[in-house]
Amino acid sequence: MSISSLRQSYDNAPSFDVADLAQCPFDQFHAWFKEAVDADIMEPNAMTLATVDYDGRPDARMVLLKDADPRGFTFYTNYESAKARQLGAHSEATLVFYWDKLFRQVRIRGAVTKVGRDEAQAYWQTRPVKSQLGAIASNQSQTIKDRGQLEAAFKAALDEHGLDNPIPLPDDWGGYRVIPSTIEFWQGQQSRLHDRLVYMRDAEGWQVKRLAP
Ligand SMILES: Cc1cc2nc3c(=O)[nH]c(=O)nc-3n(C[C@H](O)[C@H](O)[C@H](O)COP(=O)(O)O)c2cc1C
Repeated sequence: MSISSLRQSYDNAPSFDVADLAQCPFDQFHAWFKEAVDADIMEPNAMTLATVDYDGRPDARMVLLKDADPRGFTFYTNYESAKARQLGAHSEATLVFYWDKLFRQVRIRGAVTKVGRDEAQAYWQTRPVKSQLGAIASNQSQTIKDRGQLEAAFKAALDEHGLDNPIPLPDDWGGYRVIPSTIEFWQGQQSRLHDRLVYMRDAEGWQVKRLAP
């Protein structure tokens, strides 16, 4: 198998009628997101989060979208993690979704703010208890000796909180919201003549432009 010989046919890509594009990019996002869910894509809310560190070097990793409304796109993480330190230095980020079965990509760029503590608290309470304990046990992005250290920290959190009592939201855990300035919808098409429609925010609202693929 040679990597360069891999070719994916786009013959079965869904048609994309620009006339059907919603006026509001959030409506468009929810329409495509629903189609991704209906297509049984695994973790359709998984997205790449790209950030820039203090030296201007890019970084990226996957996170899970937990909310999307006209305020922006929300994910949750550890506030002491590498990504959090990078967002502290540069409060701009890009999110990228790839929904393979639908030949679709969505790219969102914008400024990032922290989610309010009440909102983070409300989401924290919906998480399974073992996920809460896992979040408490992990000093995300710090070097650890071995897996045993992580498991011991999990056990210590379990001994402290148990499985039956509400666990308070840790100070170092919360959400970020990406407030989009551009949202691009990319639909793969035959002959690499893909459709790229980008919503750009200006003083009058959202303008839509088509970009060459
Ligand atoms: C599918 C998937 C979803 C993930 N979701 C999250 C998430 O929502 N929040 C999070 O902090 N890390 C998530 N991770 C782990 C991150 O990719 C990353 O390893 C971790 O956040 C540490 O990143 P950092 O050191 O750049 O801060 C996810 C990983 C995968 C593969």
